[in-house]
Amino acid sequence: REQNEYYVERLQQLKKERNAIILAHYYMRPEVQAVADYIGDSFGLSQKARDTDADVILFCGVHFMAESAKILNPDKIVLMPDERSGCPMADMVTGEGLRKLKAEHPNATVVAYVNTSADVKAETDICCTSSNALKVIESVESDEIIWVPDKNLGHYVSQFTDKKMIIWQGYCNTHDLLTPEEVLELKRQYPNAPIVVHPECRPEVVALGDYVGSTTGILKYCRETNFEDYIVATEEGVRYMLEKEGPTKNFHFASRFMVCPNMKVHNVKKMVRALETMQPQIEVDPEIAAKAKRSLDNMLAVVP
Ligand code: 13P
Ligand code: SF4
Repeated sequence: REQNEYYVERLQQLKKERNAIILAHYYMRPEVQAVADYIGDSFGLSQKARDTDADVILFCGVHFMAESAKILNPDKIVLMPDERSGCPMADMVTGEGLRKLKAEHPNATVVAYVNTSADVKAETDICCTSSNALKVIESVESDEIIWVPDKNLGHYVSQFTDKKMIIWQGYCNTHDLLTPEEVLELKRQYPNAPIVVHPECRPEVVALGDYVGSTTGILKYCRETNFEDYIVATEEGVRYMLEKEGPTKNFHFASRFMVCPNMKVHNVKKMVRALETMQPQIEVDPEIAAKAKRSLDNMLAVVP
């Protein structure tokens, strides 16, 4: 504990010296969320990264999120506490694979979930996150959409649009493992509890949701409703903020295995080391970054 206090103090000191801002995703360990300047979902983090006037962004999230921060605000130094924090779903599609699919559907508009590498974003027309996917899809002119990489989010939004969606078959290892049986078992125990679901879950799980939405959407729903119990179908890191905002409510996570190991590699000690050494820095090839930025900017024009 004393050691942790030491690191927290050192972090505050370094933050001032470097004029740094700490951005953290809701899936971070509680100790990381506790020292962040801003905690958000992938969309909120992009907006914050774009708008900050700090010199350094210490980004506590997975690689594609830090990469997006660098692309949106290239003059800033973007650091990650641990560079190994990747997203397996983002790795399920490559620029080369997407180019092949595009060649088969030359008239389709390519919509990319932000959970993609800069290489892939560079091949796409417009990005989206789970908080704005439908708005983005409805904003494009074409009736044919290539959607990468999440098949579950793709299936979810395809129910609300008349556009033809060609859906890449990627998925999130963490969300996709949850089964409807696990959710229904909890529902038997807490029959009055609403089920809140992240759309990266399987369609059979999403179909059970009383509320379906991004991390920020889930938090808002739980903040604005007044149930004693909630059944939560998303990554367990969200518990920290749910309990902070609703200390008298009970949040039952549908599976204890819904942990994104990639999000958990960051800790306060590594944050201190990153600000001390100013490493590891996230860099993106300028040509790719320029193309990827267009796609991110297009999203931010639809949902500023
Ligand atoms: P959010 O857009 O809800 O932050 O989701 C990002 C993510 O990686 C979820 O697994
Ligand atoms: Fe990627 Fe899933 Fe982890 Fe989100 S929870 S970063 S989609 S692996």
